[in-house]
Amino acid sequence: MLMNRMETVLVNSPPRRWLQRYEARVLTALGGRTPGARVAELGCGSGYGTRLILDEFGAARVDAVDLDPAMISRARHRLRRHTGRAHLARGSATDLRSAFHDVGGGQNGTYDAVFDFAIIHHIPNWREALDEVARVLKPGGRFFFDEVTATALARPTYQVLFDHPSEDRFTAGEFLHELSRHGLDVGERWRTRIGGDYLLGVATRQ
Ligand SMILES: C[S@@+](CC[C@H](N)C(=O)[O-])C[C@H]1O[C@@H](n2cnc3c(N)ncnc32)[C@H](O)[C@@H]1O
Repeated sequence: MLMNRMETVLVNSPPRRWLQRYEARVLTALGGRTPGARVAELGCGSGYGTRLILDEFGAARVDAVDLDPAMISRARHRLRRHTGRAHLARGSATDLRSAFHDVGGGQNGTYDAVFDFAIIHHIPNWREALDEVARVLKPGGRFFFDEVTATALARPTYQVLFDHPSEDRFTAGEFLHELSRHGLDVGERWRTRIGGDYLLGVATRQ
């Protein structure tokens, strides 16, 4: 589901970039860096997270997808100096084979890591995105996630300011349960923030 105007403005703002640097530090503390890795990024937005994955996590290459063509254009501009290391595609996180078909990405067991910076809660059938994460990760590959839970989405600020799917949202516990059902082992490598509103963690593909 696409973001509304208010969320688009916020996601493209300096405070979001500051927050995303903080999230990247938490994820690194929980799951380490990804030097030399081939990575898929779900819902890359304006590409700031893609740049962090390349420059801070040390990935060799990122295949990034977003539903919104305007965000893909922004990401292309942001990553213009990373030619050959970032492939940006318009498509859905629920069908990575189609999104990355032109670069041979999105096949079973292609990636060393998958990143989700605050996007799966935008997907109505969010379990299908986890199907894809589990399918495209190599055994031992890592899933880095930073999610907005049903607890946050029920708050008046979220209800008034933003548009999200209204049904079947997940709590932190439900998301963690679904990871383990998909063979994504998170163990103790997860944290919540602000009373369960936000969930960050790193799971390993069994
Ligand atoms: C809250 S923004 C997060 C953007 C960026 N990852 C960040 O952390 O700033 C959610 C993004 O997910 C994208 N999105 C929503 N549904 C999607 C889907 N099914 N597949 C891929 N991207 C999707 C939106 O277009 C938007 O860019």
